[in-house]
Amino acid sequence: MTQGSKTSRDSFSSKFGVIAAAAGSAIGLGNIWRFPSVTAENGGAAFLFIYLLCILILGIPVMLSEFMIGRSAQRNPYGAFKKLAPRTAWYITGLMGVVAAFMILAFYAVVSGWTLEYLYQSFTGNLVDKSSGELQTMFNSFRDDSFRPLLWFFIFMGLTAWIIIAGVRSGIEKVSKVLMPLLLVMLIFIAIYALTLPGSFAGVKYLFNPDFSKITPDVIFKALGQAFFSLSIGMGTLITYGSYIKKRDNLAGTTLSVVGADTFIAILAGIAIFPAVFALTDVQLLDMAQETGEALMFITLPSILNNVPGGQILSAMFFILLAVAALTSTISMLEVIVAFLTEEFNISRRKATISSAIAVSVLGVLSVLFVGVFRFLNFSSVNILLPLGGLLIVLFVGWYLSRKFTIDELSNDGKLSSKYIPVFLFLVKYIAPIAIAMVFIYGIINAVRA
Ligand code: PFF
Repeated sequence: MTQGSKTSRDSFSSKFGVIAAAAGSAIGLGNIWRFPSVTAENGGAAFLFIYLLCILILGIPVMLSEFMIGRSAQRNPYGAFKKLAPRTAWYITGLMGVVAAFMILAFYAVVSGWTLEYLYQSFTGNLVDKSSGELQTMFNSFRDDSFRPLLWFFIFMGLTAWIIIAGVRSGIEKVSKVLMPLLLVMLIFIAIYALTLPGSFAGVKYLFNPDFSKITPDVIFKALGQAFFSLSIGMGTLITYGSYIKKRDNLAGTTLSVVGADTFIAILAGIAIFPAVFALTDVQLLDMAQETGEALMFITLPSILNNVPGGQILSAMFFILLAVAALTSTISMLEVIVAFLTEEFNISRRKATISSAIAVSVLGVLSVLFVGVFRFLNFSSVNILLPLGGLLIVLFVGWYLSRKFTIDELSNDGKLSSKYIPVFLFLVKYIAPIAIAMVFIYGIINAVRA
């Protein structure tokens, strides 16, 4: 492998561009699809509380570490570890990230494809006047059919590849700057609408009134996985995006904006979904959603939207929102693989994009055809690869890189305030590694036992 290409690197052009792109990666199906269903499965507000704790003491340090590694090395995750820690085995952390990107993209683009199917069904009016039972049958037969899920999967991968070929600034940044504000406006609209429905308050209570007896080690394990997945951390996505950030940008400020935006959108999605579920359905639908994460998005929600005025428009809007959120995330995953291939093997961006999209599609097809593959990719990447990657990243910053290196990088060589850096170092040296390792080991033991 070569030590990175010599041509000048593409980069984000503005501060807003950086935040839009990184928030675009973070905000996705994880916020709007996975967060509400994992929250419902794990006891509502108690889960939210642990989730927020994970974001605060583990998520922020890992994200800041990734941005720092990427920006200082100006390389893809593999190349970055090779450059900052030559003649060591740290590069394996970077390689793991590339593998994780590959695995996550392969199942994530499948669900992204479902959003296009439901967008299409909303436009054609097929979701209207259907009972929840009928909607469930419709979803099951769509999934079992294989042809349509495959078709939408390929369309989604094609869209993703097309944006990646356009480049970092003219593809990723440009698309994120338009789509992210659009997503925010649509979600706020839907949340306000949900809150005006009679009976919606029970949903708000469910989300914000914690019953602490519901916190179990398993809930903590799931909350950590969800926090990492939602923030796109632990696999080098933000090392890659960090490598496109200019030297003068403030990394701590960027991290706080991205974490803030991601958390806000997850909670907003909860506010859009739970009140609507409680206001308009029997509890049975929530039970159903608790059984399968998919049900909340593709069965419960369409059945709710049937019962409200303007439901068809709302449902189209909701699925546009999901597709947009998914797209700005899939591009960030593909970018990890493409940056790795272009820099380490010196191949053109176009060739790297097309070949990696084809390779991901092979795995994607398997996860459309075999639910077992889908579940395996989902569980192993979210609950194993991301926490393990996050653990190695904080150990690298806390114990391998020098204190001076971190202070220089985060303060932009003394130009920015460095008062918070001792707290950051304490978190990455001690708190984050111990906490992530404990939760992670518990999860593995449990998974092996089950
Ligand atoms: N953060 C994305 C979401 O919440 O949907 C998912 C994701 C994107 C995970 C990119 C990992 C990643 F590298």
